[in-house]
Amino acid sequence: MPTFQFKLNGAVVSVDAEPDQTLLDVLRGRLGITSPHFGCGAGECGACHVMVDGLAIASCDMPMWSVADKDVVTLEGIGTAGQPHPLQRAFITEQAMQCGYCVSGILISAAALLRRNPSPSEAEVRTALDRNLCRCGSHNRMVRAVLRAASEMAT
Ligand code: FES
Repeated sequence: MPTFQFKLNGAVVSVDAEPDQTLLDVLRGRLGITSPHFGCGAGECGACHVMVDGLAIASCDMPMWSVADKDVVTLEGIGTAGQPHPLQRAFITEQAMQCGYCVSGILISAAALLRRNPSPSEAEVRTALDRNLCRCGSHNRMVRAVLRAASEMAT
């Protein structure tokens, strides 16, 4: 079994994995990173999103052979309970979740957006979250939360 090395939340990690094993499987099963969730397993729902080289990517659809030397960021690398990211604070303030299953993937998509566009319009937020499904119907509150976080981060 080959060894793959990549950066995970700022630290270089090495892990033995099958080349076709998904990044999601390795993160959850081997590296103890549980924020990305398995939803559809087909790159369609966004529950498994992680940031790879600054882009929100479906980790269920990313084989390990393509992860070598990449910069991977999960929600664990964005904020903690003690030091939440402004996005996490805004999601709490706006009550922008119900069951919570999709939220870490949505926060990753939002964080990737704010990295490349710190002052997005509402339309740009909606476009950035277009690939994330929320079956509870919390999307409008999530959009408000992303705009709130962007505003807070600008001050
Ligand atoms: Fe990866 Fe749905 S589980 S996109």
